[in-house]
Amino acid sequence: MTRPVALTRDKGWYRERNSLAFQVLRVRKARRTHVSNKAKNTPVRYRITKRTVPARLKETLQPALLPLAAGEQGAHSHHNGVAKLNGGFADSAFADNKQRPVHRWVPWIAGFSSEFVRDAFTRYLPGNRPEAAVVLDPFCGVGTTLVEALRCGHDAVGFEINPYPALASRAKCEAAAVSPAQLNQYILKFEDYMRAPEAAGDSASAPEHFRSRIPFFGPRAEAKVLKALRFINRLRVPPIHDLFELAFGSVMVNVSNYSYEPSLSSRPAVGKPTQDDAPVAESIVVKLLAMKSDVAWFREELERLPRQPIGRVIQDNFLNALHHLDPGSVDLIVTSPPYLNNYHYVRNTRPQLFWLGFVRKPSELKRLEIENFGKYWQTVRDLEKVALDFEHPALERLLAQMRGVSVERGTYGGPGWANYAASYFNDMNRFCRVVGQVLKRDGRAVIVVGNSILQGVEIAVDNILSDLAARHGLTTENIHIVRQKRVGASIVSSSVRQGARTTAKLYESAVVLRRT
Ligand SMILES: C[S@@+](CC[C@H](N)C(=O)[O-])C[C@H]1O[C@@H](n2cnc3c(N)ncnc32)[C@H](O)[C@@H]1O
Repeated sequence: MTRPVALTRDKGWYRERNSLAFQVLRVRKARRTHVSNKAKNTPVRYRITKRTVPARLKETLQPALLPLAAGEQGAHSHHNGVAKLNGGFADSAFADNKQRPVHRWVPWIAGFSSEFVRDAFTRYLPGNRPEAAVVLDPFCGVGTTLVEALRCGHDAVGFEINPYPALASRAKCEAAAVSPAQLNQYILKFEDYMRAPEAAGDSASAPEHFRSRIPFFGPRAEAKVLKALRFINRLRVPPIHDLFELAFGSVMVNVSNYSYEPSLSSRPAVGKPTQDDAPVAESIVVKLLAMKSDVAWFREELERLPRQPIGRVIQDNFLNALHHLDPGSVDLIVTSPPYLNNYHYVRNTRPQLFWLGFVRKPSELKRLEIENFGKYWQTVRDLEKVALDFEHPALERLLAQMRGVSVERGTYGGPGWANYAASYFNDMNRFCRVVGQVLKRDGRAVIVVGNSILQGVEIAVDNILSDLAARHGLTTENIHIVRQKRVGASIVSSSVRQGARTTAKLYESAVVLRRT
């Protein structure tokens, strides 16, 4: 059975994909999509590729969890009478996604593994449902949960506040509706365009308000980047435009004088040489060719399903979810909110946000930072003491302890970090309220969080999440330790942990909540 297609934006393309009946809700701000007459009139050279059928994914479940050593069972092994399990879910780490079709398009810090998500579906969405299940990821990042939900035939909804990962999620949800042959034509046109001499009067400039400590691109690389962007900005078919933007966004740091370590650093700061020139067109084309092959694979996957699922990406703060979703409409949430480690998603995607035109001024970045779940230390450290919006004596004690650490360092010491932790849990409380509102009765939420060590004070985020959830009609069924000594060494050894004199270990848990 097919569903009506809700999109009406484009003349030919969406008609072509009607058979797929695949709806992608595009909630985003108006963007520059100026198309010159010259581009409109450029004849298209057709060279249709053979439909490629990449090897099917080998779906092996990873050997599950790292066992807790006997001596480590204790404070971290029980909460509110719920045993913290050390078995049952696949490892939540993103690393494996780097090899997997569609998932491999964009590297993303703290992304999920696709197997972990599948594991959650197997447990909480029984196969014999009369109706399609609705899977929600309130912090969908680059769309791991959404892609896996669609592959399993579930409808998928993702919220993502940052326009760059939202672009990635949207491009993935749209992917099955893209014709690989059409994408191939555009790749060929792009190659021709990048080889041809620059047309007279064809100029573009770097984003006006984008600042970096050293020139972001070498001079010759920058000329190529601007040329590539001129081509991309003229693309009129939305999903093709999205794929090109994403290909550009995912390689732009590689061809720059910066690198992800995993936070964005200049190459000289990490002992790498700067690059005057770089293979800009080649890098984009390699990415696009991988996308083309994955698009063919994803189409085949979805065409095999008895019913075509619907993917929606909502570029908004999840705390506004009830503006977009009906109460009690979601069967399963699988998500991972930002951790309490101050990893700065907004700063680390500044290059993509500015160069792809998602933000133009620093004030727009600021708005994103303030609306980001948990805020950032940088945005709250100088505030008067941030109070909790709810009562939680154990957390109050931890915050008081933190406020007493390195007081002489002012907002850089305990008081600033305690403001950050309090802001984080105020958002966690709001998040739980919205989860309680959107879940169906008996619906589950699988929420991956990490513990945290701020100024030497360990905070068991999973326990506090479980406590807050209970205030909003959500019972904790299980807490699974899914990883220990989690990734991101340079984050965990950064100033976030200054003052740390603790033997506590970093771990990640999947907190399973049920709507009662
Ligand atoms: C840990 S990442 C999620 C990664 C995701 N599981 C994946 O596999 O790609 C958290 C994401 O939440 C997003 N985010 C932060 N605050 C948000 C908010 N208030 N509403 C929606 N998304 C938000 C961040 O931009 C980031 O992409």
